[in-house]
Amino acid sequence: MEKAFWQDIAEKIWQKERFVAARSRGKVPYTAEDGVFDDKSQDICWWTNGFYAGLLWQLWNYREEPVLRERAEEIEQKLDKNLMTPQGMDHDSGFKWLLTAVADYKLTGSAISRDRALLAANDLAGRFNLAGGFLRAWNDKGDGETAGWAIIDCMMNLPLLFWAGGELNDPRFALIACRHAQTAQKAFLREDGSACHIVVFDPISGKRLHSLGGQGYAHGSSWTRGQAWALYGFSLAFRHTGRDEFLTAAERSAAYFSAHIPESALIPADFCQPENCPLEDSSAGAIAACGFLELFRLTGKGEYKERAETLLLALLKERCDLTHGHDELLEGGTVAFHDAPRHIPLIYGDYFFTEAVLKLIDKDIFLW
Ligand code: GLY
Repeated sequence: MEKAFWQDIAEKIWQKERFVAARSRGKVPYTAEDGVFDDKSQDICWWTNGFYAGLLWQLWNYREEPVLRERAEEIEQKLDKNLMTPQGMDHDSGFKWLLTAVADYKLTGSAISRDRALLAANDLAGRFNLAGGFLRAWNDKGDGETAGWAIIDCMMNLPLLFWAGGELNDPRFALIACRHAQTAQKAFLREDGSACHIVVFDPISGKRLHSLGGQGYAHGSSWTRGQAWALYGFSLAFRHTGRDEFLTAAERSAAYFSAHIPESALIPADFCQPENCPLEDSSAGAIAACGFLELFRLTGKGEYKERAETLLLALLKERCDLTHGHDELLEGGTVAFHDAPRHIPLIYGDYFFTEAVLKLIDKDIFLW
């Protein structure tokens, strides 16, 4: 596609989002019902609470407009409650504070934003399990049930550690991130390049015990959003470390994803779901598009850019609402294969779709 085509789409997103930002003041959106954003302010530790701010910062960077910045800052401030809630601090700190505080600091130099992000990074580093070489994913009720659980999604949280290490000139952060990525590459990626969602380690010996199907169709299947997290996450690990092993992991994840893109280019919820199952996840397509574009930047291979454009064009044509009537951009997101609700707007779908469009016109800000 011509760059001008994507420039036009970026412009339409910006025009829409400044209206949506103004009419959604006070909200921390996760999904939308009948075209109106919900509000996660009362569930402030929820893992997706940074994405809307990330989208606003991306668009503010594209072209400044006060409401975009004000809304992003509002959400960043609300997240302070999460920073002071130890039980609500988990491995998703990257998603939450890279797209809020780190973005704010990078774009405005805000000192308090830097402090927030450093606190979050220190907490994330503290989740490292020395025996297994992984970052623990979720908390439990204190019974240790999930003490040895790690998930592929965490690859996207590692950039918070790379950022903090650079900011403080302290190699501990990158060492932890790098070690987690090495563990993930061995423990999550299967022979065929598909990724497990959850891997359970013995939290004392560090031994890999088994994997779980998690949000996918079944044990041993390929949950598409997890596959997209692997594709983009390993690409980012390569970008931050220059280690070839991560580029190999990213390209293996990408090859599996590419080989399973259906003719419609609308991504199913799981690449192994039964053939007649219509379940889709638009967010997986948007995340993978960003991953493919990152791989294009890293390797110069045109096929990755083509793949990204194929995914984005399908979303644009079939699942995207650029009108000002609805708060969301993308429809057709699915949280988990076996749990309702399905085929709903998901704020991270909107974030990654926007990031991908801006990447295509070289107007994104690198937040990972
Ligand atoms: N990180 C959780 C998810 O992708 O649903």
